[in-house]
Amino acid sequence: MEIVRPGLITGNRIIDQQHQEILTLAREAMSCFDDSRGGNSSEFHALLNNLTTLAARHFQTEEALLRLNACPTLKEHKKEHAAFNERILDLLMKAMAGNLDRSGLLSVMEDWTTHHLLVSDAACCQYMQERKRSSDAARQQ
Ligand SMILES: [Fe+2]
Ligand SMILES: [Fe+2]
Repeated sequence: MEIVRPGLITGNRIIDQQHQEILTLAREAMSCFDDSRGGNSSEFHALLNNLTTLAARHFQTEEALLRLNACPTLKEHKKEHAAFNERILDLLMKAMAGNLDRSGLLSVMEDWTTHHLLVSDAACCQYMQERKRSSDAARQQ
């Protein structure tokens, strides 16, 4: 899974790299927990740990960038991030209690990559690209 859609490239090297890491992690999760393999608990914990670190770092970086660009959907965007954080925390709590919710993890990864990344993040990327184009054009006048 690679970022191939032009609308998903923010032009910000760090954000683009973090998105790529999320897509790679989603791919790992899908292949770990497919029907034939099922995954094991150490794989599950490793993925969950990576997801927690990635999410915290990425949401912070992205929200700072959206704030800097006065993104009009920042408030809603932050709510979506907070909901992901809550779902990840819930998975962590369950795992600590011995319940490895594999389908829950897959569902978080799927929602993140197909809904949030390809819809909400893509819309913000487009907004920032347009903003940059108009400020570049204004500078050239
Ligand atoms: Fe986002
Ligand atoms: Fe993002």
